[in-house]
Amino acid sequence: MISGAERERLLARMGIAVYVPRGAPAPAPVSAPVDPPPAPWPGPPPVPPAAAPDPAFAPVSAPVPAPDARHPLEPGAPAAGPSSAPGATAGAPVRALAWPELEAAVAGCVACPLHRSRRRTVFGAGARDADWMVIGEGPGANEDRSGEPFVGRAGRLLGAMLFALGLSREEVFITNTVKCRPPGNRDPEPAETERCGPFLERQIELVEPRVILAVGRVAVQTILDTNAPLARLRGREHPYPRGGGRVPVVATYHPAYLLRTPIAKRSAWEDLCLARSIAGRSP
Ligand code: URA
Repeated sequence: MISGAERERLLARMGIAVYVPRGAPAPAPVSAPVDPPPAPWPGPPPVPPAAAPDPAFAPVSAPVPAPDARHPLEPGAPAAGPSSAPGATAGAPVRALAWPELEAAVAGCVACPLHRSRRRTVFGAGARDADWMVIGEGPGANEDRSGEPFVGRAGRLLGAMLFALGLSREEVFITNTVKCRPPGNRDPEPAETERCGPFLERQIELVEPRVILAVGRVAVQTILDTNAPLARLRGREHPYPRGGGRVPVVATYHPAYLLRTPIAKRSAWEDLCLARSIAGRSP
């Protein structure tokens, strides 16, 4: 475990500015020289093994993993059709729930067929008053087993991405558009994201994040209520259309896609830096 000061020195050497959460004191100036010009994540200079934040942090040279059927065509993938599940009426009661009741409602939800094949619901994890909210698509096999979001390889890369921003998983609230695993790791269907939508909306209302980082086409299109391709949506800020459009959303690639397409990491890093600048600006 490296200390906070060591981490800051390491990140400064990598040319990565440290994100300071709201209300936190400004970090002490870091004395480490920043002599190599700032290298954007994920291409920092080599770091000593003991201090390496995560093996997934240097995945440019890592072997490309087996294809993930859920992210075959991310940047230009065909848009999902409009969400039109009939009878999605869970919104009214869910809107009024506090955290414990919301969690219980998710655990007992049978509103769509996904409940039949799930082992566990995956509610979300992290700080419930976080500045950052990360929203993925839906639980995979590991998450279905553990009940925690983003615990597989993609989850480790997400952790490394957050670490590069100076954030731990614990200080971010991480969840998904659907809380049950779609069978066979397929994408959640519009009817499923619509049925689950009130849970996510309530989580966003309760967390009141400074920024939402939506990862992957399904998450981005669901949150922004659009069919536009991810490639057109990333790289800029969008208002979250619900809740008065006050919460800014940044769209980026899904970590599973980045594992297979390391070249896209540079663009993803730009998205992360955009999100960081949004989270750091005064309210
Ligand atoms: N992929 C996601 O979108 N969410 C998870 O929780 C895990 C993998």
